[in-house]
Amino acid sequence: MIAFKRTALARELVAALRGEALLGDAHNGLFLAAPRRTGKSTFLQGDLGPALEAAGVLVVYVDLWADTRRDPGALIAEAIGRALQPQLGIVARAAKQAGLEKVKVGGLEVDTSKIGKVDGLTLTEALRLLHETSKKPVALIIDEAQHALTSDAGEAAMTALKSARDQLNAPGIVNLMLVMSGSDRDKLLRLVNSAAAPFYGSQIQRMLPLGADFIAHVSGLVEAQRPELVPVDKPALQQAFEAFGFRPQFFMNALGQVLSPLAQLAGRFEPALLDAARDQQAQDEAQMESEFLGLKPTEQAVLWRLLEQGHRYRPYDAEALRFYCEKAGHPVSTPQVQKALEALRQRMPPLVWKSARGEYALEDAAMHRWFDARLQANTWPPLPPVGHVPLADD
Ligand SMILES: Nc1ncnc2c1ncn2[C@@H]1O[C@H](COP(=O)(O)OP(=O)(O)OP(=O)(O)O)[C@@H](O)[C@H]1O
Ligand SMILES: [Mg+2]
Repeated sequence: MIAFKRTALARELVAALRGEALLGDAHNGLFLAAPRRTGKSTFLQGDLGPALEAAGVLVVYVDLWADTRRDPGALIAEAIGRALQPQLGIVARAAKQAGLEKVKVGGLEVDTSKIGKVDGLTLTEALRLLHETSKKPVALIIDEAQHALTSDAGEAAMTALKSARDQLNAPGIVNLMLVMSGSDRDKLLRLVNSAAAPFYGSQIQRMLPLGADFIAHVSGLVEAQRPELVPVDKPALQQAFEAFGFRPQFFMNALGQVLSPLAQLAGRFEPALLDAARDQQAQDEAQMESEFLGLKPTEQAVLWRLLEQGHRYRPYDAEALRFYCEKAGHPVSTPQVQKALEALRQRMPPLVWKSARGEYALEDAAMHRWFDARLQANTWPPLPPVGHVPLADD
């Protein structure tokens, strides 16, 4: 399926970023969080970027997960460098032909051999140059922005972006728009929530999941292809989409399956779709449960503490150590906690995330929802199945 366009949301955010919204603070930076696979990147690239361009903004998009082996700071610098290249191309070619080694653009002296690479310039200078040569406001969209905090260079890049914003923007004038997205609010919070955080004072907004208009669009597609199914039960589709955690990929896959002639459904497809959604949910939960049960006692205790404390988690305070001791059934020392956190980080896929400053969070925020649901249902902690031999701490 071609991605469903979210034009209205994009338009709203463009206005907010340009500082035209009556309320809000998006012109200081827009921080968007939404769970995994709910369509963040698709929206940023397919809707928000084009809407900004249509409004005369030069858009630079960078996904910090594009290559996790590369330093996030370098990825940001490169994306800006790539955007600069065409802008500076004409100036630089003329300068090179004239045998000049340096050109002066927008009050800055630029080494012609370095154009396109940001190393010669600071991020602030590069962004100023981009703005001045293009004569447009610049929007920098950083997808999976929390990843910047996992390295010192990435963190420095974030601080540089904040300073670039402060230098390029003035009350009523927005020359640099910053959009940062991530799948975990707790991690994004670290960009904004302490006085030392680069974007202290900004708020994280929850990016709304695809809504009723998406469901109406999908129903329309089904009805157009399969007239005998008119009218499609939209509330049932909506319910199934919610049960799929608002993840269009899983939803569309299941829809394709129940509508396939191979499905040989006797009745309507909507109940089968709901069944598929519940299966998927059960599968996701079984996966988390088996991961949890496969951990050593200290690792379980550490993960449990993280689940319980969220962004308030402090790995080594007295209360945490007491907690680990109680849950693991033996005293747990600081090095043991360290080792457990490291083991949780090194798993494939990793369960724990660590920032360059040594702050920890769960890698997948879906685990918080699983934990909360089990607490509510009084089924926490998961119990090992009969015959399961629990791992022991070393
Ligand atoms: N507007 C849309 N219409 C239809 N399908 C969509 C839409 N948005 C996303 N999808 C589908 O959902 C899947 C996930 O989308 P996307 O990669 O944008 O999500 P994400 O939130 O960035 O995921 P991740 O957390 O893995 O980065 C993709 O397969 C994509 O095709
Ligand atoms: Mg993404």
